[in-house]
Amino acid sequence: MNQLSFQYLDNTLYCEQVALADIVRRCGTPCFVYSQAEILSRFQSYRAGFGDTPHQICYAVKANSNLSILRLLAEQGAGFDIVSGGELFRVLKAGGDPAKIVFSGVGKTAQEIDYAISSGIHSFNCESPDEMRLIDSIAARLGRKARVAFRVNPDIDARTHPYISTGLKKNKFGVDISEAPHLYQEALRYEHLQVQGVSCHIGSQILETEPLLEAAGKVLELVDSLRAAGVPIEYLDFGGGLGVAYHIHEPAPEVAEVVSKICRLAAGRGLTLHVEPGRSIVGPAGVLLTRVLYRKRNQEKEFVVVDAAMTELIRPVLYDAHHEIIPLRRAPGRPGFVADVVGPVCETGDFLARDRELPQVAPGDLLAVCTAGAYGFVQASNYNARPRPAEILVDGDTWTTIRKRETYDDLIRGE
Ligand code: LLP
Repeated sequence: MNQLSFQYLDNTLYCEQVALADIVRRCGTPCFVYSQAEILSRFQSYRAGFGDTPHQICYAVKANSNLSILRLLAEQGAGFDIVSGGELFRVLKAGGDPAKIVFSGVGKTAQEIDYAISSGIHSFNCESPDEMRLIDSIAARLGRKARVAFRVNPDIDARTHPYISTGLKKNKFGVDISEAPHLYQEALRYEHLQVQGVSCHIGSQILETEPLLEAAGKVLELVDSLRAAGVPIEYLDFGGGLGVAYHIHEPAPEVAEVVSKICRLAAGRGLTLHVEPGRSIVGPAGVLLTRVLYRKRNQEKEFVVVDAAMTELIRPVLYDAHHEIIPLRRAPGRPGFVADVVGPVCETGDFLARDRELPQVAPGDLLAVCTAGAYGFVQASNYNARPRPAEILVDGDTWTTIRKRETYDDLIRGE
C-alpha cells in the first residue's frame, strides 16, 4: 500500500490501529472500510496548497456520499460539489453549509433547481443556455437571485480514460469556451441571475498535471477578458480530477503542489478559487474487504472466486481500472500464482482483477481491494439481488459502522 493509514504490522493488515480482520469478525464481508485520518490529511493537503489564497474546497459528493464522511468534511469547513437533488439532501442531512454548495451537472431538473435555490446554495455551475434561462425563471418565481458560473469546456485532453474525460469538444459537458463571452453578456441581462463565476472540469483520475494547468491558463484568460467586458467575475472553480495511485509505487500528483501552482497562476486578480476534489480525498482512504470462496481452474486459467463483485466495485469492468489486491494476513516467502479474481455475479465482466499475480490464498482467506474509497460504494448496485455491503469508518483504535449491510427486506422495500 502506498499510504500510511493501511499498513502491515506483524504481517497483519491494519487500518490505522485496527486490524482489518477484527472488523470482518464482527461485521462480515464484503464491506468497505475507510480511514478517517487519511481523509482528513488529504483534505488538509488541499488547505495547505491554498495557503492564504481565498478559497473554498467543495468536496465532490459523488465520490463517496456516506453521511458520516460528509459530516466529517463539513466539520472541517468543507463545501460540497453536488450533481443532484439527492446529493443536496444528503449534504444538508449531514450538516453541510448550503452557502458552500456548488451545483454541477449537465441535466439539472426544474425541481432540483428549485430545491437548490430554496436551500440557499452558493451557486450553479451552469452548462447550457437553456439551463441559464430555467434557473432565471425559477429564481424569479422564488423572488431570489441565483448566483451562476458557466462551466466552460476548454477542449483540452485530460489524458485519462475516455469515459471520465470531460473537457473535450466532443463531450457533453460545459459550454464551448469560445462561446462563453457571448453567453455571459446574455446572462447579464437576466434579472434573477448573478453571474460571478467561471468553472471548468476536464476529467477525473488525471495523473499528468499539464492539462490541468493548461486548462487553468485558458480559463484565466477568459476571466480577464470577461472582466474587461464588464462581467463582474469574483470566483473561479477549477473542478476536481486529480488522480491517485492505483498501482503500488505509481506516481500521483502532489495535491498541495498542484494547488499552489494554480494559485500562482491566478494570483493578483483577487479571485476566490474553488476546487471540487472527490477521488483525491477519499480514494486511497478506503478498501473493500472480501473473503475467498473458492479457487478453481480450467484448461486456460485459474480463478479466485470471492464474495465481492462488480456490484460492490464496478470500476475494473467499467474503466478497465486496476486495484491492488492484498491479503489481510501476509505469509512472506510463499510462492504466489496468477489468476483472475472474480465475484459471484453472473456476468463475464464480473471481475476485480484479471491475470493478476496474487499471494497464495485458500477458501476462507480475507483480501483487501485497495484504493476503493472513491466511486466504490456509490456505484454499488443490487444486481443479482445482492444486498449492498456495510461501510465502516476507522478512527485511531476504534471503528464505527457508518452504513449497515442491507438486508433481504431492504431489497424488496418499495415493491
Ligand atoms: N466536479 C465535477 C463537475 C465532476 O464531474 C467530477 C467527477 C468531480 C468534480 C470530481 O472529480 P474527482 O476529483 O473525483 O476526479 N466513476 C468514475 C469517476 C467519475 C467522475 C465524474 N466526475 C470512476 O470510478 O473513476
